[in-house]
Amino acid sequence: MRIEKNFSLKDHNTFHLPVRTRWFMEYDNEDELGRILRDEYFQELRSLHIGAGSNLLFVADFNGIIVHSRIRGIRVARETDTEVILRIGAAEPWDDVVRYAVSRGWGGIENLSHIPGEAGAAAVQNIGAYGVEAGERIDSVAAIHLQTGERRRFTAAECAFGYRQSFFKTPAGRDWLILSVRLRLSRTFVPRLDYAELRTALAMPGLTAVQVADTVEAIRRSKLPDPAVLGNAGSFFHNPVVDGETVERLRRLHPGLPAHPAAGDDTPANFKLSAGWLIDACGWKGHREGDAGVSPRHALVLVNYGEATGRDILHLARRIQDSVQERFGVQLRPEPVVIL
Ligand code: EPU
Repeated sequence: MRIEKNFSLKDHNTFHLPVRTRWFMEYDNEDELGRILRDEYFQELRSLHIGAGSNLLFVADFNGIIVHSRIRGIRVARETDTEVILRIGAAEPWDDVVRYAVSRGWGGIENLSHIPGEAGAAAVQNIGAYGVEAGERIDSVAAIHLQTGERRRFTAAECAFGYRQSFFKTPAGRDWLILSVRLRLSRTFVPRLDYAELRTALAMPGLTAVQVADTVEAIRRSKLPDPAVLGNAGSFFHNPVVDGETVERLRRLHPGLPAHPAAGDDTPANFKLSAGWLIDACGWKGHREGDAGVSPRHALVLVNYGEATGRDILHLARRIQDSVQERFGVQLRPEPVVIL
């Protein structure tokens, strides 16, 4: 266990914001976590559980306790002729899980390669890319209730996954801390190449899961700035989901507007717009205000060139939201959790 006072979070948020927390605690097993949860002093404080900090925007110092798991590990929990169930500690880096799976030829999460963050947070956020969401492969998660200490397993249905959404992001769900995640992978690999970019790059016979993961990684490296080099939290906004009428109205004014049917929605059909396209069309790509900016490589990614504060990033985000609202009448919602 590690407990630090007045601790800098600069290396615990991928925007590299130099905010401090009153307390920082890392636990190596559930007993240590239990001790902290039962401690009367810490119970009085505001608390926040973080993963790798790849989806957080700290706007100010944190006057409370930040808790981080160090419980890692990937093991096979169950196998059948067709499937493998992996049990993964919440602190396991997500991309290590992907590499573990693809190197064994197990299919299901290869499209989610090279996404920063840890396995527990991947479930909270229901990370997604290239037509696949983590929630499709999550069998269940084990979680502990922060107030009562109750430990229970949530089935995939109880996790209520949606686009970058789960039960764990709702007010009731925020009281549950994920300890481990079970993933259901296929022994037979069936490529998911719904995205034209992937289909074109991978038009070859005998495709392997490793090749898909490598190609996704290469695409991501070419499009998205590396948070180790330039502070960012990936997509800063959700792609807005709108109805068909809105798409028609917008397409009359902006014929090039990309819109894709939003998965899992029933009638009337909903469509996902590309927030990156909307922001780009408003002229923000590459824009810089002090050390806060919009990546010149991808309009959906806000970046910290060095000394930006969370407030600077948030201020820029609000200006972008206003301009997209004014030009297209569409509201953008931030994807990272903003910690005020
Ligand atoms: N576009 C522009 N200008 C830009 C960037 C994008 O016009 O600067 C337009 C293009 O038309 C492009 C379209 O937007 O074809 C979509 O862009 P991209 O394929 O990069 O995907 P995205 O919709 O911007 C989403 C996810 C990403 C995920 C990719 C691939 C969200 C909020 N973001 O981005 O996830 O990797 O699809 O599936 O859903 C993340 O969540 O941090 C993230 C990177």
